[in-house]
Amino acid sequence: MPNLFGLLKKTSPSISPDDILAALGKVLEPEVNRDIVSLGMVKDVACRDGSVSFTIRLREAGSPLQIPLERMARRAVLAVPGVKAVEINFESSPKSQLRDTTRLNLDARHVVAIASGKGGVGKSTVAVNLAVALAETGQRVGLLDGDIHGPNVPLMLGLKDEQPFAFGEQIFPPSAYGLKVMSMGLLVPPEAPVIWRGPMLHQAIRQLLRDVMWGSLDVLVVDLPPGTGDVQLTLTQSLPLSGVVMVTTPQEAALADVIKGTEMFRQLDIRVLGFVENMSYYVCPHCGQEEAIFGPGGERLSGQLGLPLLGRVPLDPGVRLGGDTGQPVVVAAPDSPAGWALRQAAETISSTLRNMPSPALAFPGYKVYPELNLI
Ligand SMILES: Nc1ncnc2c1ncn2[C@@H]1O[C@H](COP(=O)(O)OP(=O)(O)O)[C@@H](O)[C@H]1O
Ligand SMILES: [Mg+2]
Repeated sequence: MPNLFGLLKKTSPSISPDDILAALGKVLEPEVNRDIVSLGMVKDVACRDGSVSFTIRLREAGSPLQIPLERMARRAVLAVPGVKAVEINFESSPKSQLRDTTRLNLDARHVVAIASGKGGVGKSTVAVNLAVALAETGQRVGLLDGDIHGPNVPLMLGLKDEQPFAFGEQIFPPSAYGLKVMSMGLLVPPEAPVIWRGPMLHQAIRQLLRDVMWGSLDVLVVDLPPGTGDVQLTLTQSLPLSGVVMVTTPQEAALADVIKGTEMFRQLDIRVLGFVENMSYYVCPHCGQEEAIFGPGGERLSGQLGLPLLGRVPLDPGVRLGGDTGQPVVVAAPDSPAGWALRQAAETISSTLRNMPSPALAFPGYKVYPELNLI
């Protein structure tokens, strides 16, 4: 006995935009190898009787992808039961919008920036250790050293003699501890004084954002330069950030800077995921007693700002040594108080990100950003 409902469905199917989107969700954009629906390229789907129309957005007018995309999309939609005719429109961003733009070559589910109000609080140390700890959980992690003037991430990861592989305009980041790493320190000779300003600085950041072939990442960690100046502002606005982690030390002066930094991110509508208090306390190597050298700032700050304290990392000579020898403490001494605190912080960040939609997913590897305006 044939299923009558099944037959009925076959003879008079009603097509919904969701059916069409499901079919188009199998069409891959050949350049980035992801489906055109999750790339946000399909819009205005309309179905009427057996006729379907929709628009595909292209990055540039006259893109060579138009013909293959049209063919694949048409075939996919015609395979939906009941579809008799397909009309595909193409749309591209206006030329003016595309001229002088920086294309961010990035396919990362989440981008997390590590920021601090001032220098020397251990921001790079925290960024490196969080990134390594995240990679150790099996995630695909990249670390971008955004500190153009004092790039010390390569040293901290034992990569200071590493040369990134370049192919044409594309730069392939070297790996350490399962991380892909890119830093200005890998692109210029270490003795070259990086005191660039204006156009050269502009060019450097542009290159770091546009030409590095990260591949697909779960998380890109960005070590921002300290403070709240132009470079920080530009970098944070140029990246599809999921959030920021602030690093501070417990002194009053550092706390005031963190409050200022947090305020800047709030004004930019960027979520602050919490902060890490570094050099929180000192464990006496003789008696094991914890000493809060700089006072109990972090907890008070957490209450005052209403933000989670993601971890308290003690002052530990092993942390500095690990940084100088290219062996991050989460690897060299994972169960030391510092290693443990940093791994816990990474775990908390990881679970926050898991429950967050990806701001980058709307246009991964495809986003067109306005010209970075640093001059
Ligand atoms: N918890 C810590 N214990 C001991 N030394 C630390 C700790 N955190 C950072 N350092 C050391 O302090 C110095 C500054 O840290 P760094 O991460 O470069 O700071 P920032 O990036 O904020 O300028 C480095 O020599 C680093 O090894
Ligand atoms: Mg630094």
